[in-house]
Amino acid sequence: MNFNSIKNICCIGAGYVGGPTMAVIAEKCPEIKITVVDVNEERIKAWNDNNLDNLPIYEPGLKEIVQKTRGKNLFFSTDIDKGIKEADMIFISVNTPTKTYGKGKGMAADLKFIELCARKIAEVSTESKIIVEKSTIPVRTAQTIKSILDNVGTGVKYHILSNPEFLAEGTAIDDLHNPDRVLIGGDHDSKEGQDALDTLTSIYEKWVPRERILQTNVWSSELSKLTANAFLAQRVSSINAMTALCEKTGADIEELARAVGTDTRIGNKFLKPSVGFGGSCFNKDILNLVYICKSLNLNEVASYWEQVLLINDYQKYRFADNIITTLYNTVTDKKIAFLGWAFKKNTNDTRESAAIYVADYLIEDKANIYVYDPKVEHPKMIRDLNELNTRDSSINESSLSPVDDPYLAVKDAHAVAILTEWDEFIEYDWEKIFSIMKKPAFVFDGRNILDSKKLTKIGFKVYQIGK
Ligand code: NAD
Ligand code: UGA
Repeated sequence: MNFNSIKNICCIGAGYVGGPTMAVIAEKCPEIKITVVDVNEERIKAWNDNNLDNLPIYEPGLKEIVQKTRGKNLFFSTDIDKGIKEADMIFISVNTPTKTYGKGKGMAADLKFIELCARKIAEVSTESKIIVEKSTIPVRTAQTIKSILDNVGTGVKYHILSNPEFLAEGTAIDDLHNPDRVLIGGDHDSKEGQDALDTLTSIYEKWVPRERILQTNVWSSELSKLTANAFLAQRVSSINAMTALCEKTGADIEELARAVGTDTRIGNKFLKPSVGFGGSCFNKDILNLVYICKSLNLNEVASYWEQVLLINDYQKYRFADNIITTLYNTVTDKKIAFLGWAFKKNTNDTRESAAIYVADYLIEDKANIYVYDPKVEHPKMIRDLNELNTRDSSINESSLSPVDDPYLAVKDAHAVAILTEWDEFIEYDWEKIFSIMKKPAFVFDGRNILDSKKLTKIGFKVYQIGK
């Protein structure tokens, strides 16, 4: 196969990765027809919505690309069999969450959706295909997929590639347009394997310089993805660990990050202190890495990576606990305004967001929380809390009030907590906010985005991370 032989691509999974990734491939390769399929009818309906503001995922720049390509060479459908049958190349981009049951519960990646995809492909395919693992999976998953395809299939030939995705939410389109690298793992040792590698390479080459497309063996590619996420999360936990020390010693974390980050060997990216990292992947991928290490009896390696998660939990707890301690050791019946619920700015994704855990901790102390987030839907916030299973859902519903107007959230509040670094929070009328809050008016800036000098001058009592 070569680039010209790829006429149809099918992507299974229309989520945060499948949707934006396929939109960009469709934009850059107008000669290829791309169908994104999903079992979730509501999601597919939203991808097909005439009003592009109703797409299921918010990403800057996404709706413009969908507008250009949808109905031309980009299609969203629930007809999975048809999508698979027609395709020369299939991307598997389904979710691989942490297992919530049985062997590996709470740690291992749940591969049931991956297996279902492999079985479905084997069941309906009639012609040779390239299968691309896009989801993040444990090292050696390609072997499982191959075994299913070879044993369940009807003699059709498959080539399996690993092509992990490195996009970050909120910057997905920029990351896809201009990736640091594209990683493709395959079988260099056979001619057919090399052909498959080159075919996928030729698709990315339409817009990514060849030197940024790395070819490796499958296992290196699979493990590189987990490693990259572990390294990134480790940097956040490293800087967050130092915030606790700064607060005790009078050092300032921003000055520390600048001093350390200007060493070109260390670099200045991903050193932003925060209330703790969230997102669908850091936590689950490190748990998965720890599980793999433990399964292979590499207990010291497992403990090393586990610390990254322990510090992250500690940071969320520390932030919430500081709110209680500062508000005279109780938040019972006090109104706390949360600005932000998403796990980072420019996304409507709330998976593993620090806000959920901080809210949970404060509700345990009987606080009343009012939340404003520019992109997160209100019922989602309550669902996020309920999923922690800490208490009866009726208590969550009466303790957490999502609102559409930030000034409504802060009115008569004892404290404001910044949980997400949305730019608009910086621009708010903080004098007005001060005038409508209860006094003393506290601000807990979990993202260090506000001008603490200006706020202190207005009259606020300001707490920032690592200062
Ligand atoms: P997601 O939950 O947003 O989307 C996955 C979609 O797959 C869902 O819509 C689900 O309905 C669908 N699905 C599941 N099983 C299916 C099946 N058998 N047939 C058809 N559809 C099925 O997940 P996501 O955030 O897009 O992540 C997908 C994968 O990519 C994960 O492995 C994740 O670790 C990885 N990843 C995610 C990101 C990110 O920023 N979200 C970045 C890089 C890698
Ligand atoms: C992360 C990686 O950056 C992507 O490369 C990877 O593809 C993706 O995970 C994945 O596999 O899902 P994402 O979780 O979307 O992307 O967002 P990040 O920008 O990495 O932020 C993760 C969390 O860390 C956020 O809560 C963010 O606020 C926090 N963070 C990030 C900090 O607290 N400080 C920083 O300096 C950077």
